[in-house]
Amino acid sequence: MPKNHTYVLGINAYDHDVSACLLRDGEIAYAIEKERITRQKHAGGFFQEVVDYCLQAEGITLDDVDLVVRNCYVLPVEDLEVRMIYQGDMIDRERAQATKSPLYLPKSNKVMTVSHHLAHAYSAFAVCPFDEGVVMVVDGVGSYSSDIKEPGQLTEGVNPLARESESYYKFKGSKLETLKKVWLQPCRGLLSDEFFHMEGLGALYSRVSCYIFADWNKCGEVMGLAPYGRPNSFRPLLELKDGKLRVPEWDVEFNRPWTPGDDKKWEASPAMKHWEDVAWRVQDDTEKVLIERARWLRETTGAKNLCIAGGVALNCVANGCIVREAGFDNVWIQPAAGDNGIAIGCAYYGHLAIQKRTRTFVMKHALLGVDYKDNDVRNAANRLLLSRKTFNGPGRSICSETAKLLSEGNVFGWFQGGSEFGPRALGNRSILADPRRAEMKDKLNKRVKFRQAFRPFAPIVRYERAKDIFVGEDESPFMLRAKHVRAEWKDRIPAIVHVDGTARVQTVRREHNERMYDLLTEFEKLTGVPLLVNTSFNIKGEPIVETPRDAVNCFLYTGIDYLALHDMLVSKNVLYKIFSPFVKVYHEAMVRPRDATD
Ligand SMILES: [Fe+2]
Repeated sequence: MPKNHTYVLGINAYDHDVSACLLRDGEIAYAIEKERITRQKHAGGFFQEVVDYCLQAEGITLDDVDLVVRNCYVLPVEDLEVRMIYQGDMIDRERAQATKSPLYLPKSNKVMTVSHHLAHAYSAFAVCPFDEGVVMVVDGVGSYSSDIKEPGQLTEGVNPLARESESYYKFKGSKLETLKKVWLQPCRGLLSDEFFHMEGLGALYSRVSCYIFADWNKCGEVMGLAPYGRPNSFRPLLELKDGKLRVPEWDVEFNRPWTPGDDKKWEASPAMKHWEDVAWRVQDDTEKVLIERARWLRETTGAKNLCIAGGVALNCVANGCIVREAGFDNVWIQPAAGDNGIAIGCAYYGHLAIQKRTRTFVMKHALLGVDYKDNDVRNAANRLLLSRKTFNGPGRSICSETAKLLSEGNVFGWFQGGSEFGPRALGNRSILADPRRAEMKDKLNKRVKFRQAFRPFAPIVRYERAKDIFVGEDESPFMLRAKHVRAEWKDRIPAIVHVDGTARVQTVRREHNERMYDLLTEFEKLTGVPLLVNTSFNIKGEPIVETPRDAVNCFLYTGIDYLALHDMLVSKNVLYKIFSPFVKVYHEAMVRPRDATD
């Protein structure tokens, strides 16, 4: 049968946040992270599951794919694969998969690799809504300079062991030009993920994350802790002079790291005030440097439009500062700004730079997973402990029923359409609640999320009403910018206002998520409030739910009151009340042990 489409597959391979993205004729058909399938957060390793997911969703095989582009920030992928044969870095099951896969040590010239920051840059500009502009990529650590083989990447005269820290580009149409790169100079280290003495923005932030949470990948928690710190009570951790960044050495003042084996709970540590002050400082330093970098980019190019990618772009507070203070007319941030988004960048590098196609696609939403069938949903909910009722008639819809129950103080699991690609739940795999109730934050933490009390919950709001409640006209479809809550609204929606008076807003247009928009409309009809508390549909330490079965399991094992699965309202029945202690014990026995800050 003749093939009707051109397919390009992008893969973020091996180290962490393994993911795949399939382009069909230059448009994103599907994208998925491995953690959603394997249920291991930030899953690394071989990429069989994510490739299979995309191909099966599209109904094609690898033979139908015209080009595969891969990246791993550690080393060029083929180089890494050669080492993996000898070094035993793969679990046995994945080694067996890999050795049978045509994508492991590939012989075909339709499989290639691209350097790390270039992939981040393509993940942003290739799918942004602007014809021209500039791109800012900032992350923890990227490719070694000696591994960057694409032309024009400004590697001449750079130490071969220096690694990417910041990269700046300009683009017009489908063409990207590199303007400046900031390198992490080689440094000696004890462990590969400690970021010790790496003089870079993202590296420093991750180092603080290691210090406070014993995990380099808790930068979001550091950002949430920062407003509790005392301004300027700690010396600067970053110095910027004539565009050059310096990270002064840490000495005895950093003698209170969190150690997971500590008897005390993280929240009860006597070092808490110190951690809050350090978090305040690193956040403030980061914002200042990013604003200065963004201003430099605007002034040297005259650009009006800015795109951002790289893990540091997940810092929604800093993004809010850039939007307000850097002077760009428009700012677009790749929702999968971390290394999961590398899969999108790899795919578009293949489409634009290798296949020489032109840009036609704009990523208006991040709902890139499989849209499960109603039958799958019904089967998943067909459990002895559950009651089900479908609402699809005129007058009573799943949206109106859910809005009513939310307004009465119930917590909802909300499962609709394809899953979100990237770290945020954006209205298809969400836990929802009433923002008017101050106690809702505690209720969500005690019954479902089990997160540290300092972490805020975010609002999801109808786009047209956002400017009435939050300061600033700009759209925030991916929950990637913090906005100040207007004074007259702070007391009306206490569940989503952070200690510094901001909220991590997601705005929704009807054309991008009709059912969520209609739910918000119904909730406003009942309450006068066009927004809801929106947090990711998962338990602490676990990835966001992917399948209807994942959603039902999470519903059963937590204190969520109701579950909306497509147009079906699911509740726990009388039998659940009898058996719930056993359900809880079963779940505790099944889930992996988690550390104190997970
Ligand atoms: Fe990265």
